Amino acid sequence: MQRVVGKVAIVTGAARGQGAAEAEVLVQEGAKVMLTDILDDEGEALATELGDDACYMHHDVCSEEGWINVVAAAEEKFGPVQILINNAGILKLNQLTDTSLEEYMQVINVNQVGVFLGMKIVAASMKKAGGGSMINISSIDGLLGMTYATSYVASKFAVRGMTKVAALELGQFGIRANSIHPGGVNTKMVTDLGLESNSDEGNMFTRVPLGRMGEPADIASLALFLASDDSSYCTGGEFLIDGGLIAGISVTPG
Ligand SMILES: NC(=O)c1ccc[n+]([C@@H]2O[C@H](COP(=O)([O-])OP(=O)(O)OC[C@H]3O[C@@H](n4cnc5c(N)ncnc54)[C@H](O)[C@@H]3O)[C@@H](O)[C@H]2O)c1
Repeated sequence: MQRVVGKVAIVTGAARGQGAAEAEVLVQEGAKVMLTDILDDEGEALATELGDDACYMHHDVCSEEGWINVVAAAEEKFGPVQILINNAGILKLNQLTDTSLEEYMQVINVNQVGVFLGMKIVAASMKKAGGGSMINISSIDGLLGMTYATSYVASKFAVRGMTKVAALELGQFGIRANSIHPGGVNTKMVTDLGLESNSDEGNMFTRVPLGRMGEPADIASLALFLASDDSSYCTGGEFLIDGGLIAGISVTPG
């Protein structure tokens, strides 16, 4: 099926992981996609593999000038932007009392300021297009707390909140904004930290009701739904995709 035919998209953090899967599925479903990241070799290679409907550009999401350049380049190559996936993100783990201000601000800048700038700058292009869909990748950590993750949790709660402001302010222009809240997903963000292989009883990945971690393709399917007209009445929503991880408390009687 071609669910986003002819739509122009920007996907940040698209060189690998969930962003790569999202860029791939959008191209498969007929969109023209500007992939951006700071990992240029991986990003260029993926865009080449995806063909003429994909293009890669170096882009640090913390830079306002960078955002202006990316939107201008996407418009020049493909036309006004109708889909924005604010996917780029970083995770640093440290106890609250051990987190330096520098580390805290680094996470806030990428995960929170990056999403703010993306929505702010891309909105004008979406207005030109007559509407669009903004998809912000938050986390289950935007819905509840997690130990060792003050900066990450703060940034992901902020993403959830500002998505709702965008929905309220931009609905009149046909622009929708929704947040996605993944649980544990099998990407380098998690494997680099060894979280997926830690089988301690308290580790979240051992307690998923569906019995497995999420895969990038799982999240990309949800992003595709939100990007397409199938979700035309969805805005300001929080889309949980966690295999049931935070559905509730499990007990074993006896
Ligand atoms: N993996 C998980 O378990 C999980 C769970 C919930 C939410 N998330 C979120 O999903 C999103 C994608 O993460 P992932 O799991 O694919 O991890 P990942 O580390 O594989 O991908 C993140 C991408 O963002 C890019 N990036 C980092 N800083 C950047 C910057 N300043 N400018 C531009 N790009 C930058 C990285 O280079 C990388 O390609 C992130 O927002 C993350 O917080 C991940």
